[in-house]
Amino acid sequence: MKRVIAIYPGTFDPPTNGHLDLILRGAKIFDELVVAILRNSEKSPLFTVDERLEMLRECTSQWENVRVESFDGLLVDYARERGASAVLRGIRAVSDYEYELQMAWMNRKLDSTLETVFMMPAGAYSYLSSKLVREIASLGGALTGLVPAHIDAQLRARLGVAPMAPK
Ligand code: PNS
Repeated sequence: MKRVIAIYPGTFDPPTNGHLDLILRGAKIFDELVVAILRNSEKSPLFTVDERLEMLRECTSQWENVRVESFDGLLVDYARERGASAVLRGIRAVSDYEYELQMAWMNRKLDSTLETVFMMPAGAYSYLSSKLVREIASLGGALTGLVPAHIDAQLRARLGVAPMAPK
Protein backbone atom coordinates (compact mmCIF):
# COMPACT_ATOMS: atom_id res chain seq x y z
CA MET A 1 0.00 0.00 0.00
CA LYS A 2 1.25 3.50 -0.81
CA ARG A 3 2.44 5.45 2.21
CA VAL A 4 2.05 9.20 1.92
CA ILE A 5 5.03 11.05 3.33
CA ALA A 6 4.86 14.82 3.84
CA ILE A 7 7.55 17.34 4.73
CA TYR A 8 6.73 20.23 7.05
CA PRO A 9 9.63 22.64 6.41
CA GLY A 10 10.43 25.80 8.30
CA THR A 11 12.78 27.85 10.42
CA PHE A 12 11.11 27.07 13.79
CA ASP A 13 13.11 29.72 15.71
CA PRO A 14 11.68 28.77 18.16
CA PRO A 15 8.89 26.23 17.60
CA THR A 16 5.55 27.57 18.88
CA ASN A 17 2.26 25.98 19.89
CA GLY A 18 1.02 26.99 16.43
CA HIS A 19 3.71 24.80 14.81
CA LEU A 20 2.85 21.93 17.16
CA ASP A 21 -0.85 22.28 16.37
CA LEU A 22 -0.06 21.99 12.67
CA ILE A 23 2.25 19.01 13.22
CA LEU A 24 -0.53 17.20 15.07
CA ARG A 25 -3.02 17.96 12.29
CA GLY A 26 -0.53 16.82 9.65
CA ALA A 27 0.31 13.63 11.56
CA LYS A 28 -3.39 12.72 11.45
CA ILE A 29 -3.72 12.88 7.68
CA PHE A 30 -0.29 11.75 6.45
CA ASP A 31 1.25 8.34 7.05
CA GLU A 32 4.55 9.98 7.88
CA LEU A 33 5.39 13.59 8.63
CA VAL A 34 8.96 14.86 8.50
CA VAL A 35 9.42 18.18 10.27
CA ALA A 36 12.42 19.72 8.50
CA ILE A 37 14.48 22.64 9.77
CA LEU A 38 16.24 24.65 7.07
CA ARG A 39 19.99 24.72 7.79
CA ASN A 40 21.34 27.59 5.71
CA SER A 41 18.63 30.15 6.22
CA GLU A 42 19.25 33.79 5.28
CA LYS A 43 17.82 34.65 8.69
CA SER A 44 20.17 34.82 11.71
CA PRO A 45 18.46 32.47 14.11
CA LEU A 46 18.41 32.85 17.90
CA PHE A 47 18.78 29.08 18.36
CA THR A 48 21.19 26.77 16.55
CA VAL A 49 19.83 24.07 14.27
CA ASP A 50 20.82 21.44 16.85
CA GLU A 51 18.95 23.28 19.59
CA ARG A 52 15.84 23.52 17.42
CA LEU A 53 16.12 19.85 16.48
CA GLU A 54 16.19 18.94 20.16
CA MET A 55 13.28 21.26 21.01
CA LEU A 56 11.10 19.82 18.26
CA ARG A 57 12.06 16.23 19.06
CA GLU A 58 11.12 16.75 22.69
CA CYS A 59 7.75 18.23 21.69
CA THR A 60 6.86 15.54 19.14
CA SER A 61 8.26 12.35 20.67
CA GLN A 62 4.75 11.12 21.53
CA TRP A 63 3.71 11.01 17.86
CA GLU A 64 5.05 7.84 16.26
CA ASN A 65 4.74 8.93 12.64
CA VAL A 66 6.54 12.25 13.14
CA ARG A 67 10.29 12.69 12.84
CA VAL A 68 12.43 15.78 12.94
CA GLU A 69 15.40 16.44 10.67
CA SER A 70 17.33 19.35 9.19
CA PHE A 71 17.99 19.97 5.51
CA ASP A 72 20.11 22.03 3.17
CA GLY A 73 19.54 23.13 -0.39
CA LEU A 74 16.30 22.98 -2.33
CA LEU A 75 13.22 21.71 -0.58
CA VAL A 76 12.12 19.80 -3.70
CA ASP A 77 15.44 17.86 -3.74
CA TYR A 78 15.16 17.02 -0.06
CA ALA A 79 11.52 15.93 -0.51
CA ARG A 80 12.53 13.65 -3.40
CA GLU A 81 15.33 12.12 -1.29
CA ARG A 82 12.84 11.36 1.47
CA GLY A 83 10.25 9.91 -0.93
CA ALA A 84 7.78 12.62 0.07
CA SER A 85 4.85 13.50 -2.16
CA ALA A 86 3.61 16.52 -0.22
CA VAL A 87 4.81 19.66 1.53
CA LEU A 88 2.75 20.84 4.47
CA ARG A 89 2.53 24.57 5.23
CA GLY A 90 0.34 26.49 7.63
CA ILE A 91 -1.79 29.47 6.68
CA ARG A 92 -2.85 31.62 9.62
CA ALA A 93 -4.40 34.56 7.82
CA VAL A 94 -4.80 36.07 4.36
CA SER A 95 -1.50 37.89 4.92
CA ASP A 96 0.37 34.54 4.77
CA TYR A 97 -1.27 33.58 1.53
CA GLU A 98 0.78 35.58 -0.97
CA TYR A 99 4.17 34.37 0.30
CA GLU A 100 2.94 30.80 0.64
CA LEU A 101 1.37 30.78 -2.81
CA GLN A 102 4.57 32.09 -4.38
CA MET A 103 6.62 29.32 -2.72
CA ALA A 104 4.08 26.66 -3.64
CA TRP A 105 4.05 27.76 -7.30
CA MET A 106 7.84 27.88 -7.41
CA ASN A 107 8.14 24.42 -5.86
CA ARG A 108 5.61 23.14 -8.40
CA LYS A 109 7.68 24.69 -11.19
CA LEU A 110 10.78 22.91 -9.82
CA ASP A 111 8.97 19.59 -9.30
CA SER A 112 5.45 19.18 -10.64
CA THR A 113 4.95 15.89 -8.76
CA LEU A 114 5.27 17.52 -5.33
CA GLU A 115 1.99 18.86 -3.92
CA THR A 116 1.76 21.63 -1.35
CA VAL A 117 -0.97 21.13 1.23
CA PHE A 118 -2.09 24.11 3.33
CA MET A 119 -3.66 23.63 6.73
CA MET A 120 -4.94 26.16 9.26
CA PRO A 121 -3.82 25.99 12.86
CA ALA A 122 -6.42 26.43 15.62
CA GLY A 123 -7.88 29.96 15.61
CA ALA A 124 -6.20 30.65 18.95
CA TYR A 125 -2.84 30.56 17.14
CA SER A 126 -3.80 32.67 14.15
CA TYR A 127 -1.81 35.65 15.46
CA LEU A 128 1.15 33.65 16.75
CA SER A 129 4.60 33.75 15.15
CA SER A 130 8.16 32.87 16.22
CA LYS A 131 9.15 36.48 15.57
CA LEU A 132 6.55 37.86 18.01
CA VAL A 133 7.43 35.17 20.55
CA ARG A 134 11.11 36.25 20.45
CA GLU A 135 10.11 39.89 20.79
CA ILE A 136 7.74 39.31 23.72
CA ALA A 137 10.34 37.15 25.52
CA SER A 138 13.07 39.76 25.01
CA LEU A 139 10.81 42.42 26.55
CA GLY A 140 9.89 40.26 29.55
CA GLY A 141 6.29 39.49 28.50
CA ALA A 142 4.42 36.29 29.33
CA LEU A 143 4.28 33.51 26.75
CA THR A 144 1.73 31.36 28.56
CA GLY A 145 -0.13 29.16 26.07
CA LEU A 146 2.04 30.28 23.17
CA VAL A 147 5.08 28.00 23.50
CA PRO A 148 5.77 24.86 25.55
CA ALA A 149 7.18 25.59 29.04
CA HIS A 150 10.66 24.20 28.28
CA ILE A 151 10.97 26.43 25.20
CA ASP A 152 9.80 29.43 27.24
CA ALA A 153 12.58 28.67 29.75
CA GLN A 154 15.19 28.28 26.99
CA LEU A 155 14.13 31.59 25.45
CA ARG A 156 14.48 33.43 28.78
CA ALA A 157 17.87 31.84 29.37
CA ARG A 158 19.12 32.72 25.88
CA LEU A 159 17.88 36.31 26.14
CA GLY A 160 18.86 36.71 29.79
CA VAL A 161 15.44 37.95 30.91
CA ALA A 162 13.32 36.87 33.86
CA PRO A 163 9.83 35.52 33.12
CA MET A 164 6.88 37.80 33.87
CA ALA A 165 3.66 36.40 35.35
CA PRO A 166 0.60 36.80 33.06
CA LYS A 167 -1.76 39.64 34.08
O1 PNS B 1 9.47 29.06 8.44
P1 PNS B 1 9.83 29.73 7.15
O2 PNS B 1 11.06 30.61 7.37
O3 PNS B 1 8.70 30.49 6.55
O4 PNS B 1 10.25 28.56 6.12
C1 PNS B 1 10.71 28.87 4.82
C2 PNS B 1 11.19 27.58 4.09
C3 PNS B 1 12.24 26.85 4.91
C4 PNS B 1 10.00 26.66 3.90
C5 PNS B 1 11.74 28.00 2.70
O5 PNS B 1 12.66 29.04 2.87
C6 PNS B 1 12.41 26.85 1.95
O6 PNS B 1 11.78 25.91 1.57
N1 PNS B 1 13.74 26.95 1.76
C7 PNS B 1 14.54 25.92 1.11
C8 PNS B 1 15.21 26.44 -0.17
C9 PNS B 1 14.25 26.34 -1.33
O7 PNS B 1 13.82 25.28 -1.72
N2 PNS B 1 13.90 27.52 -1.88
C10 PNS B 1 12.93 27.65 -2.92
C11 PNS B 1 11.53 27.53 -2.32
S1 PNS B 1 10.36 28.33 -3.28
